[in-house]
Amino acid sequence: MQILQIAVVVGSLRRESFNRQLAHALVKLGPADMAFSMLAIDALPLYNQDDDARPAEPVLRLKAQIAASQGLLFVTPEYNRSIPGVLKNAIDHASRPYGQNAWAGKPAGVIGVSVGAIGTSKAQQHLRNILAYLDVPTLGQPEAFIHATAGLFDSAGQLGDSQRKFLQAWMNRYQAWVRQHAS
Ligand SMILES: Cc1cc2nc3c(=O)[nH]c(=O)nc-3n(C[C@H](O)[C@H](O)[C@H](O)COP(=O)(O)O)c2cc1C
Repeated sequence: MQILQIAVVVGSLRRESFNRQLAHALVKLGPADMAFSMLAIDALPLYNQDDDARPAEPVLRLKAQIAASQGLLFVTPEYNRSIPGVLKNAIDHASRPYGQNAWAGKPAGVIGVSVGAIGTSKAQQHLRNILAYLDVPTLGQPEAFIHATAGLFDSAGQLGDSQRKFLQAWMNRYQAWVRQHAS
């Protein structure tokens, strides 16, 4: 059985990020034929087209990690009804130089958690627009807008009962869909 390498992109740099906790919880629910690695986006410089000819080391690392993956998993908060700037910065970096878009063709899952009642739905829609342009197919259903309510995670960072069943089903669907695209 071929192991599918999945690059996980968390759109928050916050130490206690709910989205990072969600990403780790999803990895634990991941099937045996998937291996997950977190993309490091915190050391990336601000994207500047002048640097395209000589990308910084963290940019090269980011692009190499994406190239080595068969699937992507975006776990992001919503900032002012869109995606956080740090995530857009990472997306822009790996999309360039023109013609060397590292994201292209990699199937992606999109999910996020927020304290707002509509749990990242607008951010996810913006992200899907960006990914469509970058030739990244995204899993359409089930959508997953997670509301950060008490009990989402227990004190050890494990998923509470309220969402575990839904997120397990989401991961199973994601796995089947990535495998379909990877074959
Ligand atoms: C700059 C900023 C903008 C935000 N805008 C939204 C928003 O549009 N919708 C929403 O549901 N939450 C919004 N929030 C609240 C986030 O959902 C909350 O801070 C969440 O914990 C961020 O995710 P994280 O825990 O993974 O860092 C915003 C937070 C910040 C700091």
